[in-house]
Amino acid sequence: MDVDAQKRAAAARALEFVRPGMRLGLGSGSTAKHFVELLAERVRTGLDVIGVPTSEATRSDAERLGVPLTNLDETPQLDLTVDGADEIAHDLSLIKGGGGALLHEKIVASASARMIVIADESKWVSALGRFPLPVEVVPFGLGATRRAIEAAAAAVGCAGPALLRRAKDGHAFVTDSGHWILDAAFERIADPKSLAERLDGITGVVEHGLFIGLAHAAVLAGSSGVRVVERR
Ligand code: A5P
Repeated sequence: MDVDAQKRAAAARALEFVRPGMRLGLGSGSTAKHFVELLAERVRTGLDVIGVPTSEATRSDAERLGVPLTNLDETPQLDLTVDGADEIAHDLSLIKGGGGALLHEKIVASASARMIVIADESKWVSALGRFPLPVEVVPFGLGATRRAIEAAAAAVGCAGPALLRRAKDGHAFVTDSGHWILDAAFERIADPKSLAERLDGITGVVEHGLFIGLAHAAVLAGSSGVRVVERR
């Protein structure tokens, strides 16, 4: 199985957790896109579910494929969110936001009774941080916010630059909520919880890609098959 087939296999396994009548959070990224496609096949054969998309890209895919959608104003409590991740640690803490949808992803996951993360095995890591941590920031005051992020990280033993993410045209990448993203290259985050708490306290930081205590299970697909890891 190539990596894309592994992502689809993980998505297919996660579909087994979906029950009729569920209110679903629909994640973003290439793995979550497989889930939306497979979910849509089930909807076409009569499965009754409703979804809240975590990005404009997912909204557009789901609408095109005929998955019924709602939002968190009409449906503030969800049963299950299925989403991808950039890194998954063994305690199921995550780095997310490689696609830039981390704010909406975290809001949707937080509104869900349960979150299942789907990925190929390459995302399973012994420590978070090799993947640069996305930090969503308000454009005003970028330099000061960046300085505060780097200082907060250094205080918990994380060193590395926080670089402004750029779109293909060279301009700053803009999130669905109109913010910018700094990608913080820490290499290894020894204490994700402490780093998350410090980032949460910085004015100018809207959200960060550390998802701690949100994922209940991971569905991981590799060359030798699919496994489900439940959070202990
Ligand atoms: C989107 O902002 C991200 O959080 C994605 O869920 C994450 O980047 C995983 O994406 P892939 O499934 O494309 O690897």
